Amino acid sequence: MKIFVDSADLEEIRELASWGIVDGVTTNPTLVKKSGRSFSEIIEEIFKIVDGPISLEVVSEKASDMVKEAEGLVKKVSKQYQKNVAIKVPMNPEGLKAVKQLSEKGIKTNVTLIFSANQALLAAKAGASYVSPFIGRLDDIGQDGMQIIEEIMEIFTNYDIETEVIVASIRHPIHVIHAARIGADIATIPPGIIRKMANHSLTDVGIQLFLNDWEKVKK
Ligand code: E4P
Repeated sequence: MKIFVDSADLEEIRELASWGIVDGVTTNPTLVKKSGRSFSEIIEEIFKIVDGPISLEVVSEKASDMVKEAEGLVKKVSKQYQKNVAIKVPMNPEGLKAVKQLSEKGIKTNVTLIFSANQALLAAKAGASYVSPFIGRLDDIGQDGMQIIEEIMEIFTNYDIETEVIVASIRHPIHVIHAARIGADIATIPPGIIRKMANHSLTDVGIQLFLNDWEKVKK
């Protein structure tokens, strides 16, 4: 399973990329706001850190405006990195129209705010490179978010659909294990949860024990 960092925090992305575990990045307007940096500054840096798909979200509401905005975003990125741009488009009829046009222009898209398998199927039919089902937000309203990942993976497998499934809105490490067991293509994970995945209290205790014992070995 590929791991994307779900963040616009350049320091966090840089640190996690240095671990050798980052395949891509997803951002959204909320994450950009949280980073405290301008969108231009993030765009300028982020592609230099990770050589993989980087999702940048459009905020226009009409398909024609989304397409123009997406083309503007691609142009903002240096030529060498443009292949890594994935335009995040919301899952609604205008978004689908935009996805169709962008895919015809060879621009990658990530259809976001997906809450059902039917939405994922339509997004894939329109030509989406990626779909992002938000499992945590479904859990938040008392629905089993992971169930739609199972449904989407089953449908996409049945029809050899090439659109990749990004498990999004991940809230804890167990979500990641479930996503991987189902066989989802990608999990986009907040930095704090990636750090939790790397940690285990027994590992820390074990390291300390070895260090203490090494001190007592005759050198
Ligand atoms: C990723 O593409 C999404 O923007 C993100 O995972 C949403 O997560 P949230 O529901 O925690 O805001």
